[in-house]
Amino acid sequence: MNETATLTLNNKTYSLPVIVGTENEKGVDIRNLRNDTGYVTYDEGFGNTGSCQSAVTYIDGEAGILRYRGYPIEQLAENSSFIETAYLIINGELPAPAQRKRFSQLLTENSPIHSGMEHLFEGFPSDAHPMAILSAMLNSLGSYYPHLATNDHQRDLETYEATSAVIISKVRTIAAYSYRASRGLPYIHPRRDLPYCENFLHMMFSTPYEPYIALPEVAQALNLFLLLHADHEQNCSTSTVRMVASSGANLFASTAAGVCALWGPLHGGANMAVIEMLKSIHAEGDDGTKFIEQAKMGKADKRLMGFGHRVYKHYDPRAKIIKESFYSALASLGIKDDPLLNIAMRLEEAALRDEYFLARKLYPNVDFYSGLIMRAIGIPENMFTVMFAIGRMPGWIANWKEVAANPKGRIYRPRQIYMGANLRNYAAPHQRK
Ligand code: CMC
Repeated sequence: MNETATLTLNNKTYSLPVIVGTENEKGVDIRNLRNDTGYVTYDEGFGNTGSCQSAVTYIDGEAGILRYRGYPIEQLAENSSFIETAYLIINGELPAPAQRKRFSQLLTENSPIHSGMEHLFEGFPSDAHPMAILSAMLNSLGSYYPHLATNDHQRDLETYEATSAVIISKVRTIAAYSYRASRGLPYIHPRRDLPYCENFLHMMFSTPYEPYIALPEVAQALNLFLLLHADHEQNCSTSTVRMVASSGANLFASTAAGVCALWGPLHGGANMAVIEMLKSIHAEGDDGTKFIEQAKMGKADKRLMGFGHRVYKHYDPRAKIIKESFYSALASLGIKDDPLLNIAMRLEEAALRDEYFLARKLYPNVDFYSGLIMRAIGIPENMFTVMFAIGRMPGWIANWKEVAANPKGRIYRPRQIYMGANLRNYAAPHQRK
């Protein structure tokens, strides 16, 4: 017999169906609650709300499990590449060799951006944040492809393969150009012969007179970083993408909104915030002990950045992988003694022994070490969150598709509990205090 939940309100009992996911996660289906009872649920921050059914990513935060399309993150990190994993996330299956080849070709063909777009970069002030540029450019990109951005989900789904290749490929070019624009450097065009990560590093660091040749370890570290960020279930930015998509908006507009949501320090901005925190601890001559004490006082501006997670109540599996690969990347880059890394390790050790962090199940998340990796491979700090956005693009694209392709899809429109003023009459200006 199907499980049901029973709810009693004002002495009346209601039976609510229970919905069971493929990994046996259970949720109480309240879709008819307001119609049947007049009540809504209250869940600020959505910590107990399943906002959709999704087949992209599975997370068990208590057990520290993360899987893309059923594949454990550890196996993908060990055997796959960012582009293969992106294909998996976007299309649901690992690509057969011919599909992989076609995807690569599409990415290569799409790597340059329209010369008209290059002029758009010039309109930004020289110190504009690359995340502001990325979001604006991604949205503008749609206007160069009106046939892929019709805001008619049926039509936009027919061109999904082409659109996803355009976005995955061009986001990397736009990201590199936004960095070059912010430094007043000439744009370096993509090369047809380079793989995804090497091509990005070339556009970032080559000069017109000297090509940048990425060390294999650097390209590999970047590949892993992007792969580990490729999707993460219904986080703030992915929920934003789905929210925007639910209105019928196209893939360019929806992912541009995702970039904005990712920017904040509690989400994608945390990797940059970690480095800023480590630098300020270092500058104050603290070894981390003083900072940990302040972080325990619960002040929002003194949080131990890179620690804690809404879903993981255990070590974030991505943090484990990135930490391990970090040591080998450092060794191959010949970096022996990084004071910020030393502080990070001391902070981690202290926090993992401390009752405050243990009681709240606060463990390192992916951002604790990812900023250090980016720093080691030479990515400037204000580009860290942009790197996260490039990595998260496959997840946003796949989630957009789930919304667009849902025949029963409705616009996302939560309710609220109104706590404002009761009815009052308009006061003329002279009557106001
Ligand atoms: N340092 C110190 N205390 C913390 C921290 C932290 N990093 N994170 C949470 N707490 C405390 C918080 O003060 C609260 O304590 P109390 O119960 O005494 O009031 C308790 O732990 C629960 O915190 P919360 O704010 O209710 O947790 P949340 O699920 O709303 O927030 C979080 C999750 C990730 C925003 C938060 O842990 C945080 O701000 N971490 C630092 C920022 C960070 O690293 N963000 C990256 C997340 S991973 C990348 C991504 O997926 O975006």
